[in-house]
Amino acid sequence: MTGKLPVTAVILAAGEGTRMKSNRAKVLFPLCGRPMIEYVLDAAFELEPQRIVVVIGHKGDEVIEAVTDGWTRSKEENARKILEFSWQRQQKGTAHAVMAARDALAGLDGDVLILYGDTPLITGDILREFYEAHRRNKADLSLITTFRDDPGSYGRVVRDSAGKVVKIVEAKDLGPGQERIREVNSGIYLVRAEVLFNLLEKVRDDNAKHEYYLTDIVEIASAEGLFVSAFVFPDYEVLQGVNDRYALSEAESRLRLSIAKKLALSGVTVRDPASTYIDFGVTVGKDTVIEPFTFLRGATRIGEGCVIGPYTDIRDSSIGDNSIVWFSVVEASTIGNDVRVGPYSHIRPDSDVQDHVLIGNYAEVKNTKIGAYSKVHHHCYLGDSVIGKYVNVGAGAVTVNYDGICKHQTTIEDGAFVGCNANLIAPVRIGKDAYVAAGSTITSEVPDGALGIARERQTNKEGWVAKRKEKSR
Ligand code: UD1
Ligand code: CA
Repeated sequence: MTGKLPVTAVILAAGEGTRMKSNRAKVLFPLCGRPMIEYVLDAAFELEPQRIVVVIGHKGDEVIEAVTDGWTRSKEENARKILEFSWQRQQKGTAHAVMAARDALAGLDGDVLILYGDTPLITGDILREFYEAHRRNKADLSLITTFRDDPGSYGRVVRDSAGKVVKIVEAKDLGPGQERIREVNSGIYLVRAEVLFNLLEKVRDDNAKHEYYLTDIVEIASAEGLFVSAFVFPDYEVLQGVNDRYALSEAESRLRLSIAKKLALSGVTVRDPASTYIDFGVTVGKDTVIEPFTFLRGATRIGEGCVIGPYTDIRDSSIGDNSIVWFSVVEASTIGNDVRVGPYSHIRPDSDVQDHVLIGNYAEVKNTKIGAYSKVHHHCYLGDSVIGKYVNVGAGAVTVNYDGICKHQTTIEDGAFVGCNANLIAPVRIGKDAYVAAGSTITSEVPDGALGIARERQTNKEGWVAKRKEKSR
């Protein structure tokens, strides 16, 4: 099933994004862990259009790749079907960019919705309201405007004495008195398909930037007696264009708060949304508390009843129910139910920490499976290991997994006890219920139920201190 409304969306994403001062395409800058353009794609998709055409140019291959890997993959088949790309080989302005989609838009009737790829806070709901107003007014051309106290680089909406929109003047082309105008152009338009290209053909580049401005279609349409309608939206923040990295941070703050709010309303306690950084798409179960200065990134899922943070960074990981992770870092790993991690622990990629495990202060775990009820305390390192259930790993115990060339596996079977400061030189196996004496350097297997002890025997020299004093007198 393709889109339901007689509308085709065009998203302009070919610009260089000069003001970002970056090698990266502007529309690929992430906001809460996800490229900016994907939010615009979401909003457009929610409107259920017939098709979405993304105009690409600068670093266009990277944009195609990112959108195909990210957005398209996360959507159902319908999204894949309606999405296409048009190249704008040279970036000669926003009108020129829409022209680049001409072939893709040929023979269309209905309306064309034009969006800029750098306006990521726009939502499907706003677009739907806008669409309905456009149809209700039977407008030829509609645009979303808003009021800003700092109109800065936005195009200004010029109205006649009757309040009719007559044109948009770009910031660099402002005439006398026009710098006082606070109503700005958001860059979101709906145009009847049959009039769009007729208007675009008349756009000239006689302006400060020598570009073909899309905004000029407003003046042309109005001069031709077409009906131009402005949809004034009160919340200027959601219409923010991201031109530089400061605007990027402002947009991200706003988005971050809305993610925290959504979670809060679903039963998660987010103690301080302003200092909590949760990526788009992270899920958190109810009755979980997120303490301040916590980052939940990428494909992370947190269960119910957990306490996460303060000062915790979890990336691409899943945490079960009723677990506590505080002052710690977890990367690309799975953590079960009723687990405690931290403070100051680092769970590195490919670890699988099962239910009721305790991982204590300053422990590092990498590519390691830890069975239920095991304890890994104080200053340990477990790398490339398979640890059974009810294992106790003492303070300072280390798996010596790397010989300078290869990594090797350590296996510790159920119920084993590894004493403090043991070095387990991999590959090696510690048997079921076996003991490793503190301070041992274990180089070969400790059989099930055995004690492995590999250290110098202690000798005491009786009266040594007194003799020494005697000598030095
Ligand atoms: C534009 C509007 C301005 C409006 C503001 C809202 C124009 C001329 N001006 O200004 O009225 O207030 O957005 O945020 O439209 N692009 C292309 N090809 C090009 C040039 C740009 O695809 O040749 C794309 C960019 O990638 C970007 C979008 O169009 O996503 C807008 O371009 P940008 O240069 O950011 O326009 P603004 O100066 O912000
Ligand atoms: Ca912009």
